[in-house]
Amino acid sequence: MSATTEHSTAAETSTTANRIPFNQPAQVGQELAYVQDCFARKHLSGNGIYTKRCEQFFEERFGFPKALLTTSCTDALEMAAILANIQPGDEVIVPSYTFVSSANAFVLRGAKIIFADSERQTPNIDVAQLAGLITPRTKAVVVVHYAGMACDMDALVALTNRHGIFLIEDAAHAIEATYRGKPLGRFGQLATFSFHETKNLVCGEGGLLAINDPGLIYRAEVIREKGTDRQAFFRGEVDKYTWQDVGSSFLPADYVAAYLWAQLENLENIQAKRLAIWTLYHERLATAEAQGWIERPKLPDCASNNAHMYYLICPSIAARTFLIEQLKQAQIQAVFHYLPLHESPFYQPHHDPARPLPNALRYADCLVRLPLFYDLSLEQANRVASVVLTALEAWAARPA
Ligand SMILES: Cc1ncc(COP(=O)(O)O)c(C=O)c1O
Repeated sequence: MSATTEHSTAAETSTTANRIPFNQPAQVGQELAYVQDCFARKHLSGNGIYTKRCEQFFEERFGFPKALLTTSCTDALEMAAILANIQPGDEVIVPSYTFVSSANAFVLRGAKIIFADSERQTPNIDVAQLAGLITPRTKAVVVVHYAGMACDMDALVALTNRHGIFLIEDAAHAIEATYRGKPLGRFGQLATFSFHETKNLVCGEGGLLAINDPGLIYRAEVIREKGTDRQAFFRGEVDKYTWQDVGSSFLPADYVAAYLWAQLENLENIQAKRLAIWTLYHERLATAEAQGWIERPKLPDCASNNAHMYYLICPSIAARTFLIEQLKQAQIQAVFHYLPLHESPFYQPHHDPARPLPNALRYADCLVRLPLFYDLSLEQANRVASVVLTALEAWAARPA
């Protein structure tokens, strides 16, 4: 994972007239008015009216039996690891090409991570390999719907059911995306979403835990409230609240939810704008793919496009470095993405060297993401596409 590229700093994302940053957090309507409303109501901590509105919205729109707002997707993953009862010595299968949190949440509970490779066609986990990685110690499989593109959920659900293990969807990128028409986040017992400022819907730092197994709902509420039954107390179900279980402080402030609520009210508008940019890139860069200069994203037939990200696969790291540099010279910020976790300083000593993960390495070396955010105009996106095409042509024409 590249911290500098995933979570760009404010300085990196500042815009001057000609400069096109990689990302700018969307502000689309009533965000500040709703934040102010929280202050006027004198309810700043979590579980106020905006938290409840957001959670109800997600439950109704996506059909989750329970949606709990969290302080981040990382924290939702940590809650998932507790809910799945991960114990020292358990094995959890995670793709290598993902953000550190997809694995770290389970390491915190003592799990051994078994890293899996990506598919050749997409950065998603290669489901065909998984049967060979499952052992009697395997407790869960974590999948990431990269760029919002669905993994092969029929196969994953069948496999994890057959082995009686947890399926956890890290849906950080995947809000509003579907697999065969069903919303992502509805397939695993648990799913996690991110509203970090680089995502389609943002509130600064924030996340969501979607709970599809009703048997896990009560415990999830306890874990989110520092291990106490405080939420049941506020519902009037108990006359005092007390320490019931392990937990932590995973509930966001209501003014964070207020910011998010304004975005939820504008969801269709946000998605339409992002999709227009994504489509423009895809159409304009078709010729580059036809020339064999790059590969464009390959959306599986059963997956819908939530326009979270537009990425290209370059033929080599040298080609990608050249492209990023040419864009930089044109004042356009394009960025690579994850570094493979099985080769990270922290986990490399624990990974079986007899299991190279070539597709994860290829995405780490060759994938580049183009600017895509709410306020990016189609004119700017056209400029990005033109610079990409010129750079790729120059790379292809370089002397051997
Ligand atoms: C796949 C994936 N999972 C989890 C996260 C962590 O999200 P957050 O920043 O909300 O903790 C990210 C971050 O972007 C991510 O890309």
